[in-house]
Amino acid sequence: MVYRDLREWIEHLETEGELVRLKEEIRLEPDVGAISRAIADVQGLGVLADNIFGFHDARIAIGLSASWRRSAMTLGLPKESSHREMVKAWEKALGRYPVKAKMVAKEDAPCKQNIMRGEEVNLFSFPIPKTSLQDAAPYITKMMCITKDPDSGWVNAGMYRMQVLDRNRTGIMFHGSRHIAEHYNKARRDKRPLEMAVAIGLDPATLLTAAVKIPRGWDEFDFAGALRQAPVELVKAETADLPVPATAEIVLEGELSLTANLLEGPFGEFTGSYSGCLMMPIFQINTITYRNNTIFDFLLCGRPPADGYYMSCIPSVAALEQELRHNCPNITQIAYLLPSLMNCVVQGRWTSRGEARKAILAALSSESIVNSKMVTVVDEDVDPWNAQDVLWAIVTRCQANTDLVILPGLASELDPSAEDDGTGCKFGIDATKSIATSPRHSVVQFILPRQETEAWKKRILRVMKEGGEL
Ligand SMILES: Cc1cc2nc3c(=O)[nH]c(=O)nc-3n(C[C@H](O)[C@H](O)[C@H](O)COP(=O)(O)O)c2cc1C
Repeated sequence: MVYRDLREWIEHLETEGELVRLKEEIRLEPDVGAISRAIADVQGLGVLADNIFGFHDARIAIGLSASWRRSAMTLGLPKESSHREMVKAWEKALGRYPVKAKMVAKEDAPCKQNIMRGEEVNLFSFPIPKTSLQDAAPYITKMMCITKDPDSGWVNAGMYRMQVLDRNRTGIMFHGSRHIAEHYNKARRDKRPLEMAVAIGLDPATLLTAAVKIPRGWDEFDFAGALRQAPVELVKAETADLPVPATAEIVLEGELSLTANLLEGPFGEFTGSYSGCLMMPIFQINTITYRNNTIFDFLLCGRPPADGYYMSCIPSVAALEQELRHNCPNITQIAYLLPSLMNCVVQGRWTSRGEARKAILAALSSESIVNSKMVTVVDEDVDPWNAQDVLWAIVTRCQANTDLVILPGLASELDPSAEDDGTGCKFGIDATKSIATSPRHSVVQFILPRQETEAWKKRILRVMKEGGEL
């Protein structure tokens, strides 16, 4: 489970038959975007490409996060683990918090093997591709942005996409609800630029903590220690007063400007369409440190299934379960109607009809799944991870004139069908059996298959795969 860095993770994936090396020469455009889309679509193997046109020393890792198998392995579970088992593993890691990170000396930090300062700084030394055809520019999509609260000194790590502008400047895009936005707003209040370090190419558990919500006030590095079950090694950045993961492939250091802004985007979002453009600060880079024979770790954003979808599904379900159980104790589990993280399903052992509706309101106003647009509430006999089951519950346990909860005017920034002011309509479906004493509803029951069905399924699948007789 403990992968010291991206390289150990790659070695492990190769041993497990989860990664293939690509020797043939590829080009950043169009190959990387096309390969990553193909991997995510079929949950294929991760790829390590050694031979990139225009780059002598650098390599690129593609699609390492793009499968449920590798999601399970990131959590230290067998590849075939179910979504539910992954949620449980995440909850266990929350229980192990904190495993304190440890500082190491500069000599023991591989990320310091090479350094570019001032005029030498050149982002174009690294193979940073465009993700989708009409993105505004190449983007750094898989990274950890580290900043410090100007008041309390609390260090935050988050994943916020970065649009490459030139050799030493990028844009960044963060929503107002992100912790980095709090830090940046305080820096503006103080009229002092916000220092930021960006770590690229990390072990999968440490990286994951940047991309998902963890409880407020927690330290991402100490949670990463709990998740990987070993302390994260940190080293002081060269110029910024910030800790950075010592085994990172690349570390960018600099400041978020208070005066220089850009119109960020468009960028191909997880909704499957391009974002609009928003004014965002510019990141001015003054130093880059990096490892020999660097590996640039690339992540596909875009219509699910894409890497970000595989990464954030399980942690966001676990976070929502934690958040909602206080208010709705009869919740038994939460899931997504895959392959979208905009459709959430709440399963419960409901004791009154009002409870299911309360769960709808709680889920739609939750901080853990801000992007969810639709919530379906089901009973305990419906598997919330199984779309067929959920749809069946909708058509047999719900009446559209009474069981829909429609909530217009909610923040819905990323929904392409939202209003121009960023608000949209969210809705819930109460697909639970009526608890009233209606005889008609009380007889609604799923028809369970005979126990012999599984054996027949296996025999039919074997004939489909291998031919021969049933
Ligand atoms: C693949 C991926 C890409 C993301 N890109 C962005 C982004 O560009 N901007 C943003 O505000 N949040 C983005 N997020 C969500 C944040 O990384 C996530 O909410 C994280 O918890 C933010 O950290 P914070 O809560 O400490 O601010 C992304 C998440 C994933 C999984």
